[in-house]
Amino acid sequence: MDRPAPGQDSGRRSPDVTEDLRREGLIDPTAPVTPVLAPVEPPDGIGRVQLTFEVAGAPGPKSVRVPPGVTVFDSASWNGIAIDSTCGGHGTCRKCKVQVSPTTAVTHHDTRTFTPEQLAGGWRLACLVSATRDLTVVVPPLTTRPKAATVGVGRQVILRPALQKRYVELAEPTLADQRTDLVRVLDAIDDLELTCDLAVLRTLPKVLREADFKVTAVIADEALIDVEAGDTSTVRYAVAFDLGTTTVVATLLDLETGTPVAVSSMLNKQQPFGGDVITRISATMMDPDTLPRLREAAAATLRELTAEVCAEGGVDPLHVYEVALAGNATMTALVLGIDPEPIGVAPFVMTSASFPVVAAADLGLEVHPGARAFVFPSLGAYVGGDIVAGMLATGMDRDKRTRLFIDVGTNCEIVLSDGDTIVSTAAPAGPAFEGGAIRCGMRAADGAIEVIKLHPLVEEVAPATVSKPGEPTANPVELGVIGDVEPRGLCGSGLVDAVSELVRVGLLDASGRFVPEEQAPGIAPALADRLTMIGQERVFVLHRPTPDADPADCVVLSQRDVRELQFAKAAISTGWSLLLDQLGLEAGDVQQVLLAGSFGSYLSPASAVRIGLVPKLPVLRIVSAGNVAGEGAKMVLLSVRERAGAAALLEEVTYVELSDRPDFNDRFVEQLSF
Ligand code: FES
Repeated sequence: MDRPAPGQDSGRRSPDVTEDLRREGLIDPTAPVTPVLAPVEPPDGIGRVQLTFEVAGAPGPKSVRVPPGVTVFDSASWNGIAIDSTCGGHGTCRKCKVQVSPTTAVTHHDTRTFTPEQLAGGWRLACLVSATRDLTVVVPPLTTRPKAATVGVGRQVILRPALQKRYVELAEPTLADQRTDLVRVLDAIDDLELTCDLAVLRTLPKVLREADFKVTAVIADEALIDVEAGDTSTVRYAVAFDLGTTTVVATLLDLETGTPVAVSSMLNKQQPFGGDVITRISATMMDPDTLPRLREAAAATLRELTAEVCAEGGVDPLHVYEVALAGNATMTALVLGIDPEPIGVAPFVMTSASFPVVAAADLGLEVHPGARAFVFPSLGAYVGGDIVAGMLATGMDRDKRTRLFIDVGTNCEIVLSDGDTIVSTAAPAGPAFEGGAIRCGMRAADGAIEVIKLHPLVEEVAPATVSKPGEPTANPVELGVIGDVEPRGLCGSGLVDAVSELVRVGLLDASGRFVPEEQAPGIAPALADRLTMIGQERVFVLHRPTPDADPADCVVLSQRDVRELQFAKAAISTGWSLLLDQLGLEAGDVQQVLLAGSFGSYLSPASAVRIGLVPKLPVLRIVSAGNVAGEGAKMVLLSVRERAGAAALLEEVTYVELSDRPDFNDRFVEQLSF
């Protein structure tokens, strides 16, 4: 991922967009816009909002960008900022007190929690503040020691990490008590049947005697991995990794409190070997030296990120006793040094779905030498550990509703649950969403257009400058650009917005063809001059660097780009429609669609509905789920129960192979139109 993961989002909508959606029947006319107790401002714009957190004790403010509608509590939690809570963001514990400016709407819960003066000063319960505009949020120091942590999509996890510490005061040996040093420790922890690492025995005699037999046992599952001098029982950390093909995200977790201490991300150092899994698998097939190099590149990425989060959190890496790793099947194989070739060629078989206990050192990590790594199991060659983690984070196996989970990317993973049965599949969507094969495509980095709103009927057209989303404008093409800089290209969410908007205003027909230029003035007069040609290809100009710039120097959407997106969305919608068939469901039965992953989380729900990437449902049923792979990785570190749940998912989910279905091609063709 290139951006911090957002929290849950019920969709970015400006008031006029909401009206459009109601008119189009995409929002339940009877449904409340927000289920809160007091009026909350509707989202101001169509872009992102920026939250600047000023955390007590932190060296400086931290700014994050999220889609409008995400709560302040979720935005903080997803970006590694801890806010007090014992209810997990459900509005009942009244502990998540923050001070926001400018002030936001007051809920009944706020009036019961704060004095009028505090309310006037901006004090609010963070889990009830919907971030609809840029806000500064002052976060007081933590006052409670939580027993549970909020992670994933509204999941509350009771803290029970596999990594525990026990402080023990042992009787010193005497001639009458000649138990061994190890037995002395194990006897003091007689509720567990512990095994012991050799490394512990090497240091044990010295540690015991220097610490007057007052020591802390470090236990991972049922293994004694260290004995530390004195009482260190409150010092225990772990790192959760989302090992993406493009980007890797690390979250340092305090296992004592369940709170994230620091988050960092970087491009996967395997990038030079190819942008996608197939290229990297091919590289290993062509040169036997490539597998160890890929393994080392992944290890270097994990190592560097670990150093970063530990430095940011002020934590000694030797106090990191466990890590969890969620990656797709290929990334997992590569970091473990397992030959990925069988994944890349028919019939697409993994070497193993699950993995034994792995030493963190085997992943190249420089943390506590006895640290273990939990590696997520995979459901199939193309529904990997990242999706298992995502299912855990979204509670796909626990929720009784009919829910559709879509991780949008080059390989798109789809999971459908009717509350009893869970089926999953993978759809090859191609590189369009990552900016590949798109004329002006780029990844979601500074300069990428990520949000687009077209105004076909504006009477007076201002010079074609970039306008800030949400601000009054006469510009017929309203753009949201990452970094608020000059647009350089179009990222995945911008691509979907562009096509969706052009379909909405009528410049693209349902078959995905641009209308002839001569018809454009009658359809969208303010936009007609944007429809032009580059060589033989019809394009729509999204951004002109100068008013008279040549189209070839502009950021454009080409006819071929539209086709690329059409194929990608047809692959995805064929996937979910066949899964619906499998469970005997109609699209309208789906109660919630979770858009996950680095791309899906930033996708406009309205645009996704309009182009048919997701079922035609009210947009309030479409939820941005954020970085669910990373959240799942956090969960297995915080709770042994969740860890068991991840393993159980392998038994509970049925993988459906789509490509051998006789109706696949017909369905694909049906799904091509917008
Ligand atoms: S988190 Fe409990 S009230 Fe907000």
